[in-house]
Formats: sequence, C-alpha cells, structure tokens
Amino acid sequence: MNVLSSDELRRGLQTRIVGRKIHVHDRVVSTNDVAWELADRGAEGGAAVFAEEQTGGRGRLGRNWWSPRGAGIWMSVLLRPPDLAGPEQEGTVPMTTIIGALAAADAIRAATRLPAMIRWPNDVLVGRRKVAGVLVEARQGETGRELVLGIGINVNARQSAMPEDIARSATSLSETAGQDIDRLELARTLLQELDRWYQVKLDRDSEAINRRWRELSATLGQRIELEEDGRRYEGTVIDVDVRFGLALRLDQGNIRHFRGEHVTVIRHH
Ligand code: BTN
Repeated sequence: MNVLSSDELRRGLQTRIVGRKIHVHDRVVSTNDVAWELADRGAEGGAAVFAEEQTGGRGRLGRNWWSPRGAGIWMSVLLRPPDLAGPEQEGTVPMTTIIGALAAADAIRAATRLPAMIRWPNDVLVGRRKVAGVLVEARQGETGRELVLGIGINVNARQSAMPEDIARSATSLSETAGQDIDRLELARTLLQELDRWYQVKLDRDSEAINRRWRELSATLGQRIELEEDGRRYEGTVIDVDVRFGLALRLDQGNIRHFRGEHVTVIRHH
C-alpha cells in the first residue's frame, strides 16, 4: 500500500489555488474538520488536507462516510472565494458541490480510464455503483465567505471488506478496474481538476459547468422519483443546471425544477 506524502503530491503539480499548501495526516476524525481548523488559524484559500484514515468521516444528510485506512482518497480543501453580491452568493454551495463532483469524475476518468458519471445531485458512479461523494460546508468568516469542499473516493477497498449497506450500492475503483489503482496519481490529478473547475467557477462560466455536467450526467433522460416537503414526484429528467437545478417532466406533463438541498431521491430507475 502506497502512503500519501505532501512532497510527492506537490511534485509537478501546476495549480493556481488548490493545493497551494498540502497537509497529509495519518488519522483524523474528518478532513473537513481539519480544514475548518486551518480556516480558524487564517490559512489561505486552496489549502488541502488529506488523511489515510478518518474515524468520523461525514457524508451528506448527516450520514457517516466509511473511510478505512489507505483504501481511499479522503480530502478537503479550504476555499475563500471573493465576495459575491446578491443571488450569486446563494449559488455558492450547490455550485461548489457540482464542481467537486465534476473534478472527481474527470480525475477518475483521466487517471484510471474508468467511465465515471454523476448521479444527481452529486454522487460519482461507475456503472450503477457509487465510487465517490462530495460534502461542502460553508460559513461567513470574519474576512468573508469560507467553504470547505470535501471529497471521498473509494479507491482500493475490497467489496468484501465493506459494511453490508455500503457494499449494496457502492464499489471501489479497484474492484471495477480489476486491479489496484495508484492513489498518488489520482490524488494529484484530483487537485489539478479541482483547481481547473474552481477557476471556471471564479470566472462565473456556469454554461461550461452545465455543459460538462450534462455530458457526465447519469440522471439525464432517466426516470426518477423524488420527495420534497413531504410530497412525491415522479417523472423524466430533462435537464440539469447549476442555477435552476434538476428539471423533471412530471407524468402529468408539466415541468418542475428541484434543488438538491431540499430533496430526497426515492429512486433512480
Ligand atoms: C456523500 O456522498 O455523502 C459525501 C461524502 C463526502 C466524504 C468526504 S471524505 C473527505 C471529507 N471529510 C469528511 O468527513 N467528508 C468528506
């Protein structure tokens, strides 16, 4: 098992913001927490935190994130975007989440050649199984808005070692590829892709984000069942868009938009 090191991660890395500082830990509760501690101490935006193991990895919707030693990439990056006025500000968490998913999918594609896709709102899949997830947390700091973008990728975990509920719907890259994956190369590619997508976001090029999202979407054109405010909706997905969310053509014929933060997916067909 190769161990990650900040020197090796930094070697040949050409990024503008993401990975300006790289911290590698052996074991932490959650790399998102470590990134927040860095923010408290005034660290620059772009600081990245990796850990071999997380004892309390967090997923979306209050779930746990299984993060065994050496089996994955468990990383978080602190972002300090320039202050934006008005509605743009609101879009920051969903927009950051989707660029995290795009970066993870593009990095997996580049480093492993596996055809990673994105299942709405932001799970990264290979085939029908989840291989990576994104958790973005935000707060208003003294010097402006601060975000922590956390990404977990199941790289070399054995399916047989996964807890039952995870094994049912998830897999690892090595299981899918049929061979071990170089974590270091994938981690470096991830930093590069994150930096690239973060620049696109800073340039406010939401059309570039939408374009790639539509290309990688495993949900577009599919039937889906959702719940929002206690009501169920079923229909066919006709668009995904960072500003408007998911557009669903309901079985009654009308089109309704949904934002990931407010919605539970009951079933992807
Ligand atoms: C999800 O799909 O539910 C999101 C999972 C996010 C997991 C990553 S692992 C690195 C970072 N630290 C955490 O505690 N969570 C994120």
